[in-house]
Amino acid sequence: MIDKLDDLRIDADRMLRSFNELAQIGATGDGGVDRPTFSGAHLSARSWFRDQIEKAGLEFHTDGAGNHSAFLACGLKDSPSLLLGSHLDSVPKGGRFDGALGVMAAFEVLRTVKDEGSRLKFNLEAIDFTDEEGTLVGLLGSGAMAGHLSRDPLQSPRGGRQALAEGLQRAGLSDESMLAARRNKGSLAGYFELHIEQGKRLERMGIDIGIVSAIVGICSYRLTFIGRADHAGTTTMEDRRDASLGASAFTLAAREMVMKEHPDCVVNVGRMEFTPGAFNIIPAGAEVWLEFRAPDEDEFTRLDSALNQCAQKEARRFGLDLKADFLGRHSPTPMSAGSQQDITEACESLKLTHTSLVSGAGHDGQSFAGICPIGMIFVPSKDGASHAPREFTKWEDCVNGTNVLLQTALRFARIEP
Ligand code: GLV
Ligand code: MN
Ligand code: MN
Repeated sequence: MIDKLDDLRIDADRMLRSFNELAQIGATGDGGVDRPTFSGAHLSARSWFRDQIEKAGLEFHTDGAGNHSAFLACGLKDSPSLLLGSHLDSVPKGGRFDGALGVMAAFEVLRTVKDEGSRLKFNLEAIDFTDEEGTLVGLLGSGAMAGHLSRDPLQSPRGGRQALAEGLQRAGLSDESMLAARRNKGSLAGYFELHIEQGKRLERMGIDIGIVSAIVGICSYRLTFIGRADHAGTTTMEDRRDASLGASAFTLAAREMVMKEHPDCVVNVGRMEFTPGAFNIIPAGAEVWLEFRAPDEDEFTRLDSALNQCAQKEARRFGLDLKADFLGRHSPTPMSAGSQQDITEACESLKLTHTSLVSGAGHDGQSFAGICPIGMIFVPSKDGASHAPREFTKWEDCVNGTNVLLQTALRFARIEP
């Protein structure tokens, strides 16, 4: 046994074999994966992970929210768990690193600690959280575990109630099991996640590791601009109540407003759908899937009302009505100071360069704010690409990040002499 835990390193080849096997599940043939929550490929990835956990001689744990984890008991009575993890679901036609790297890294950390027989003061849990990406709800498994889940998001989830109900059934879960998945606060010692940056900053600066200082807030709405169906050939341009115009004008106006007045924020229209949807009918309805993000709570609130006003203004301009369905909100979340310090020390002991970054992507750690210490480690993304098949991180960077995760966990869970 290495008694100097500082010298412990993960088995990079073993982790690469696991990472590559996982990347085959739901592979799209262009380097990406398609594993939206509770799709066939996602369920296969989850059962593959369970298999790997059992083959590694670790305990397999699951809960009513469908979170899956590898568990390594520390042997101390009533000890809480240090969670390390991420998610195996992907956005539709996403990349093979987002989420998967964090789960494989956490799993490798447990295998390394188990092989070494290191004694720690916390149990270690390598967890795959359910529906991080928001295909159905977003941060669903972590929110349920943290006790934030209520009936509302289950009744009107952003992915639609029918998709959620069918998905839960396929996974052998239910609303009730989800709502009962809360873990008591005392059982959670902390949460650390390794993730790809999904932006260009580390690559541009030539820095090995990003230490996340905060995660942005994310809010989504379904806006419906409501006009009137009419004959597309015989109705004059003046007489139209064309819902597509409100939706399109709003999309452009929102972009300009955010760039000018909220330069640290972003807005996205990820989908627009016209009804009835024919060449020769003026659109009576235009549904807009809107998401926006902000780094701090005040600006998040101001941006929310500015975007709602902007949508109303554009609807009025084209003689339309507007319906806004609120679909969920995750607050901006600072990472714990102590966790950032643990990660910094781990980087220094590994002689890796590091810098502090705000995450523009949402992550499960947000769910645990105020419940336990949280920390996130980023590794560089090639060209900043993510949520797309060309997402890529050099394996050497993945290994560096996993060693930082290992050394951070050891610092956090070490039994002081
Ligand atoms: C999750 O990756 C998100 O930020 O949408
Ligand atoms: Mn992710
Ligand atoms: Mn993602």
